[in-house]
Formats: sequence, structure tokens, C-alpha cells
Amino acid sequence: MSNYHIKHLEEYFQVYRKSVRNPEVFWEEIAEEHFVWHKRWKNVLSWDFSKPEVKWFEGAKLNITENCIDRHLKIRGNKTAILFEPNNPDEEAEHITYLQLFERVNKFANVLKQEGIRKGDRVCIYLPMIPELAISVLACARIGAIHSVVFAGFSSTALSTRINDSDCKMVITSDGSYRGNKTVDLKGIVDDALNQCPCVISVLVAKRINSKINMKENRDKWLQPLLDEASNSCEPEIMDAEDPLFILYTSGSTGKPKGMVHSTAGYMVYTAYTFKNVFNYREEDIYWCTADIGWITGHSYIVYGPLANGATTVMFEGVPNFPDYGRFWQIIEKHKVNQFYTAPTAIRALAKEKLDFVEQYDLSSLKVLGTVGEPINEEAWHWYNDHVGKKKSPIVDTWWQTETGGMMISPIPYVTPTKATYATLPLPGVQLALMDEQGKEIKENQVDGRLCVVYPWPAMARTIWGNHQRFKETYFSTFENKYFTGDGALRDEVGYYRITGRVDDVIIVSGHNLGTAPIEDAINEHQAVAESAVVGFPHDIKGKALYGFVILKETGETRVHENLRKEINQVITERIGPIAKLDKIQFVPGLPKTRSGKIMRRILRKIVENDTANLGDISTLLNPEVVEAIIEGSLVK
Ligand code: PRX
Repeated sequence: MSNYHIKHLEEYFQVYRKSVRNPEVFWEEIAEEHFVWHKRWKNVLSWDFSKPEVKWFEGAKLNITENCIDRHLKIRGNKTAILFEPNNPDEEAEHITYLQLFERVNKFANVLKQEGIRKGDRVCIYLPMIPELAISVLACARIGAIHSVVFAGFSSTALSTRINDSDCKMVITSDGSYRGNKTVDLKGIVDDALNQCPCVISVLVAKRINSKINMKENRDKWLQPLLDEASNSCEPEIMDAEDPLFILYTSGSTGKPKGMVHSTAGYMVYTAYTFKNVFNYREEDIYWCTADIGWITGHSYIVYGPLANGATTVMFEGVPNFPDYGRFWQIIEKHKVNQFYTAPTAIRALAKEKLDFVEQYDLSSLKVLGTVGEPINEEAWHWYNDHVGKKKSPIVDTWWQTETGGMMISPIPYVTPTKATYATLPLPGVQLALMDEQGKEIKENQVDGRLCVVYPWPAMARTIWGNHQRFKETYFSTFENKYFTGDGALRDEVGYYRITGRVDDVIIVSGHNLGTAPIEDAINEHQAVAESAVVGFPHDIKGKALYGFVILKETGETRVHENLRKEINQVITERIGPIAKLDKIQFVPGLPKTRSGKIMRRILRKIVENDTANLGDISTLLNPEVVEAIIEGSLVK
């Protein structure tokens, strides 16, 4: 059907217009023709952003794993579904066919059932990028359990917070993980976390690094012997369209992480449709997304979107610089990858290295290059285009969020002319608005505004687990009747969007969203610290890095040794994970505050951006005198 695979620009505009004129007909046709349902929907869409309440395909019955696996068996049973590339290039890659995936998911699903997991139960998955990660995700979906994958770089405290927030009954982990030439003791981290998690009854442990670990009696079990015993047939649980499929945590600017809840049918339809179009995916293609399944990119575009299209999706366990900086390019040559999807931070890091790392490999299989997670700067975009794509593979700069479930703004390759640093046009079904701070819509070009979505799309998150009020306040209260993304953006004269960055207190470091509040809370736990404020500053590779301003309890003491900096970063590593460590720590006598006591991060941001000429009016501050002192001691001059 023409709607499903857009082939030229005029067609994009036609399809887009149709999707806006009659969104229900548009999505209904796609849902009808491309998926298997046990029962048809009664109603395509009902919505009310003031509550907010959004329902897609209400009344329909389905199981997403039938759409991602079972229905492919007839024609693609022997096709590779998951191509696992291990951390160590000397270890053989594993090709898991659709038939093998079917059997492995069913076995895993039966193990989950046997361990007492039922429809609606929450299961926390804390695994490295090994096949068991994708398989356990699908096994949960098979039986209607709600998976909550936690990125295996988070600390035990971060893990326990997430487990407790959604009351997980089970944790699936491994003895450890490989990361380049290091190993990580994942099971040790889980053990620490579970000291704080009475809700967890059982732990399944996959063997990956063969390390000696503690197994707690009556709680921990090795996975493999259970799988060996399990039947390879498990009837899929028939789910309602709106039943939750998964929870995935994302940082907020304040408070604890938000467990974004995604539903089943709309998420499936939307991720499959966007995957097909944005990667111009064809049956024989080999597709590789370098993200971790612990993030939304991995959920939507390593697991669900590709598998719903019967694609071959590469899962890479390792890191870009092991054994050397040519690893990504070596994998592309080895597996003849056609679509490659990565983050600007990786591109920037690899662009710093000798060109020889790229040039020694044959990258001629590439057809589409993707980027996601943060704004891509002009230089990185051109390097990617010139040296990886050889100016032949269009770059799809895809803008979206954990909350949106799938891509929202992106070129369609070979259809939409690309433009460096622009995510370009909204995908079909995505209706955007740019708003000014007073809540008026910006119609002019090149004016930076706040990016909103004015109409529901099928993959949008439905709520925050256990806190619908927070969902409403965070996303639907800033602008009436609109979903507010938290991002700034502008539009050029042809309607292309450029994302300018977060407008709230979320900082994107190496593509990871970090809220300032939890980091500040962690810093303040150090016994020598009285108060702190964290802002982002421009960084060549990470995009943004973290700069902490710290007031020590011992007033007046600003000469402090390196040790204290190390200790503060240690606390952050324990509370959140190494990704939240501060690059710079400045000890200050005070923080600029409004008369009501609110920290003026805007001023701190200007200081770390070395833009002190534009501090604005500081005379209304409670303590204008500290600004001079902070500038004096700044570490970015
Ligand atoms: O600020 C935007 C940025 O990443 C945020 C969402 O982060 P997360 O929920 O972790 O999801 C990342 C993967 C989808 C957005 O609010 N962002 C994402 N993609 C882009 C981007 N900023 C600019 N350009 C992009 N292509």
C-alpha cells in the first residue's frame, strides 16, 4: 500500500496531508493491512489532552510477539532475525533465525510463567547487550508481563529506585558483562540493589562471563538449566490494544525518574511504520542500531520496529573503541550493514581519530545513515556524510524521545532532501507547533520556540507509572491542549525543523538524558557539601558535559583539594552511575538566587559558556555579589 512506504517527495506531502486531514483513516489503513489482530478495534482513536487520556485501536486484541515473530515463520523462518556481534571480535557472531527466536522466546516465556510471572506483573531486566536481553523483552511481551529494562550502566541505587517504583517481582540479569577489555560485575550490583527491594521474589541469571558470583538461595536461579527444561511452545497472551507493554525510565528535571508507560497496539503500529520509512528498509537489508536496548532507541529500533518488519537487526555487545577505533566500521564491512543508526557523541568521538580507521574498511553496503539522541553539530554531520556515507548515503537526523515512543521528525531517505543540523520534516501523523513563552504560537521562520505536538500519535506514552498527575503536569500543562516536549526548535523557510536543545533542566551528556536535580541530590549527600547546582557546558565529544558549583559547609573555604572532587564524583557514581559524573567542579561561596530562593541556573549557564557579557540583569538577585566571585573562579576561561 502506498501509504506504507513513501517513495518520493510529492508522495510524502500527499501522505502527510492525508495523515493530518484524517488521522484515524490514515492509521487504520496501516493497522489493518500490515499486522495480525485477534479482534478488530471498535474505535481508532479517542483522546483528551486536558486529562490527558489517549486511546488507540480501542477494543482490538493482539499480541505484539505474534506480529514480531510468529507471522514471519512461514516465509522468513530461516532468515536471521537477530545478528549478535560479541564484544570480542574473535568470538563468532551468532545468527538467530526467526524460527530459533520463536523457540527461544517461547522457552523463556514458559520459564517466566513457571516462576510465577503473570500478565500485568512487572519484570526488571538488567542485562548487557546479549541475545537474552532481546529475548527476555519479547518473552515478557509474550505472556503480557510488563518489562522494565534498566540500562546496565546504572548503579545499584538507581536500579533499586526503578525496581521499587514499579514494584517488580523479578529481575533478569547476568553474572557480568564485557565492555571492551573490562568486565563488569552486574550480579554484584543487582545483589546490592536488592537489599532495598522487598518486592523482588526471584532473580534469573544468564551466564556470560563465567565469573564466580553469589547465588542467594530461594531467590536466584541460573537461567540456562530452566530454559533447557522448558517447552518451546507458549501460546501468546491475548492483550488489549491499550494494555501496557513496557515501562522505561527517563530523567526528569526534578524528582525521581519517570517510568514512561507505553501501550501495545499503537506502539507496535507506529514503530513498525517509522522503521520501514525512515530506514527505507527492504527485505534483504542488514540493519544495525548501535544503541543499548536499555534506552528507548533500542526498544523501538533494535527490537520491536525491525522485528515487526521481519528485518535482520544487529545487536552489538561491545564499544566503539575496542579493540580499536575501527570497530564500528569493521562490523559494517563484516556483516555488510545497509542501515547504520548511531548517536552524534559516537560520531564526534570517532571523527577525532585517524581517518585510516574508517578508510581501511569497505563501507559500500551502506544505504542509510541515522543519528539520534541530541543535536548533531555541522562538523560531525559532514564528517559522517563524507567519510562514512561517502556522500552517497542520506543521513536521517531523527528527533524523538522516550516519551514519543518512535521517531517524530526525520528526513525520509531518498525522498526528503537533507540539510545539516536539521531533523527536517515531521513524519506522517505528527502535527507540531512552536510556541513562545507567553503561549502564543510562532508562525515566523527562524524564531526559536518551544516544540509541541498538538495531536495524538499512536506511540505516545500514556502515563507515568503510578503518577498520572505528574504526567499531566510535566507534558500537558505548560501549553493548553498540547504535548510539550521540553525541547527548543526553530523552522526554516521551507518548514524544516532544527532542534536547538532542551529548554528545561535536563542535560544531554553523550546522548544520555540527565536531570540536574538527582545529581545535585547526590552531591549534597557528601558530608562536606552544603548546596550545589549543576549545569551543562559545551563539550567537543559529549555534546554537553556537567559542571558542578558546590558550596561547602565550611563557609569561606574555597581552596579544596582534588580529593574532594573525586569523592563527590564517587558519590554520584554510587547514586546514579558513572555517566552522571561531573567534568568540572568549582567550589563557590554562594549560588545566585532569586529573592524567593530559586537558583538562577541561567546565570550559571552563561558563566560556563564563557558568555559573561550577556548575563542580563543581576541586580534583582538576592545575592548579586556572588556572581563576580563565581566568574573569578570559573574553570572554563
Ligand atoms: O532533546 C531531545 C534529544 O533527546 C531528547 C530525548 O531523549 P531520550 O528520551 O533519551 O530519547 C533519546 C532517543 C530518542 C529530546 O528531548 N534528541 C533526540 N533526538 C534528537 C535530539 N535532539 C536533537 N536532534 C535529534 N535528532
